[in-house]
Amino acid sequence: MNKFYITTPIYYINAAPHIGHTYCTMAADAIARFKKMQGFEVVLTSGTDEHGQKIERAAQAVGKTPQAFADIIAAEWQAQWSRLGVRIDRFLRTTDPKHEKKVQELFQRCLANGYIYKGSYTGQYCVSCELYVNEAKPGDPCPDCARPTETVTEENFFFKLSAFQDKLLALYEAQPDLIQPTARRNEVIAFVKGGLSDLSISRTSIKWGIPVPDQGKHVFYVWFDALMTYMSAVDGEGRWPADVHLIGKEIIRFHAVYWLAFLLAADWPLPKKIYAHGWLMFEEDKMSKSKGNIVRADPIREVVGVEGLRYFLLREIVFGQDGSFSYDALVGRYNSDLANGLGNLVSRTLTMINQYRGGLIPAASGIPEDIVTAAKTAIESVQANFEAYEFSKGLETLWGLLSVADKFIVEQAPWKLAKSTDADAPARLDATLYASAEVVRIATILLAPVMPVSTAAIWSQLGFTGSMEDVRVDQLAWGQLPVGQKIGIPAAVFPRIDAKPAIDKMRELEIIETARQKTLLGIKDAPAKDYISIDDFAKVELRVGQVLSAEPVKGADKLLHLKIDIGEPTPRTIVAGIAEAYTPEAMIGRKVVIVANLAPRKLRGIESQGMIVAASLEGAKPTLAGFLEDVPVGARLK
Ligand code: MSP
Repeated sequence: MNKFYITTPIYYINAAPHIGHTYCTMAADAIARFKKMQGFEVVLTSGTDEHGQKIERAAQAVGKTPQAFADIIAAEWQAQWSRLGVRIDRFLRTTDPKHEKKVQELFQRCLANGYIYKGSYTGQYCVSCELYVNEAKPGDPCPDCARPTETVTEENFFFKLSAFQDKLLALYEAQPDLIQPTARRNEVIAFVKGGLSDLSISRTSIKWGIPVPDQGKHVFYVWFDALMTYMSAVDGEGRWPADVHLIGKEIIRFHAVYWLAFLLAADWPLPKKIYAHGWLMFEEDKMSKSKGNIVRADPIREVVGVEGLRYFLLREIVFGQDGSFSYDALVGRYNSDLANGLGNLVSRTLTMINQYRGGLIPAASGIPEDIVTAAKTAIESVQANFEAYEFSKGLETLWGLLSVADKFIVEQAPWKLAKSTDADAPARLDATLYASAEVVRIATILLAPVMPVSTAAIWSQLGFTGSMEDVRVDQLAWGQLPVGQKIGIPAAVFPRIDAKPAIDKMRELEIIETARQKTLLGIKDAPAKDYISIDDFAKVELRVGQVLSAEPVKGADKLLHLKIDIGEPTPRTIVAGIAEAYTPEAMIGRKVVIVANLAPRKLRGIESQGMIVAASLEGAKPTLAGFLEDVPVGARLK
């Protein structure tokens, strides 16, 4: 049997999963299921990236050893994939000893082939991206994530990346499909043409990593370690090279440059394809932990269901491009495409077969050629789209076929045919029912990789007793719905969702899930501020005042003695520390804000009956609060 090996990136464990991560893994799962349907023996690998400074610091921050921290978070990732029904065949943690050995083997092979040397490095390092930023100067931000870089000096092992510039360019040229989509391929080619510097692949400054064999304090650079997961996860299984690495666009360079160069240096076969998808955006920004604009999958699972999320992500976003997530769009698509579209076609078709044909699939003759042609065209195009990871286009095409069936039902009006006394009415009714049920059957098969659970339910409602998992693409050909098959019990597969309460519920659960993940990661909220209540604030009587007179206070450079009208019978006397910023002349007639109910206090022998409000900046002169519009004297500020 032909094998197919697909990988997702391995996820950093300094964060818990959000739907940006889910997006990639669900897409990989859909591809895996699609290839399985084509008859491949498929393995999907995912895992957790557990080494490196970022993780070491995250563990330290919560008072755990890196290993204890890694155990907890890796388990969370695994649990998430299983809750979401994503079938990961090999889950590799980079702390797995079998992986450690494999990384060391990569090193030994590169060393033996002359691609590794020892050198020393002083430069800027971005801890968040785990990346040396060669061009940065001390104090510069990381060009990828804009966080500050840190200066490091280390004796390191270097990988001769510079030796691979021409080889890589020749490879990209010879295999135009190796890096996809084309925009990403062009980006990589431009980067490599710009010249490659050698890459430091070991660290002595951190402990949390895989030791470089026989080299005391050296541990491997986290990307030298992480990329090797793809091979170590299937070590000894005869599956390498991978058919496709599915990744997000920001890590294309690590895969299409570093990883390929490591493999070339080690004389190991190269993966057949590296596909970089776009980002899932939320509120117009990349969803990410550091920005805090995160949506998690679990609340969506509980309210809309996993299948609705899978369908939405693959239908709404053009794979390879960035796309936005919103709860409104999610529920909107669910209702229009699944509840009304597919769900409705399934339920009306099955209900009519029950009603008019005693629950038995009727004869299949007399179906108009254009229906059959539409189905055949959709079968071809959808498969071609899925093969090219054009999920959105494929699903759109498939929904086109569903509307052909809907339209046919409306035109034929089975409810009229059932009552008609025309001689051809029974045959036309049979044809209508068969055609719509056959479209449902075909759509169910094509959709199985995207929505495995719902399609399995529809499959059994169509009367099939075998597992949907065993269905193969050759069963897509028109006319394989067995005449006389007894259909199952119809039940709504996609019940309509009431948008407002559903969205409210998801938001509410999101807050709970955020708190749960925080506890898991040991993140404590910043200590609660000493808030005051509105009643406390109301106790402060702030009023608009106008300065009537101002004069210096003898012997005090900073003080002015002011008479201020705040709408009371007599003006207030206020001594204010503003003399360095304002001359007495500048104050006369000026409108200011006064704290009118402050207990009086004596300054330089003068009783100050309130306080004037100013912005007081560290090391700078005070700036009086005032108004852009005219305000009456005595007005209260609330
Ligand atoms: N550990 C590395 C990958 C090593 S692979 C040998 C890493 N981890 S990550 O957790 O930061 O990101 C993992 C993947 O999640 C990346 O492919 C990244 O693009 C993807 N995503 C993270 N946020 C995302 C979105 N908002 N949208 C889509 N994918 C996103 O990088």
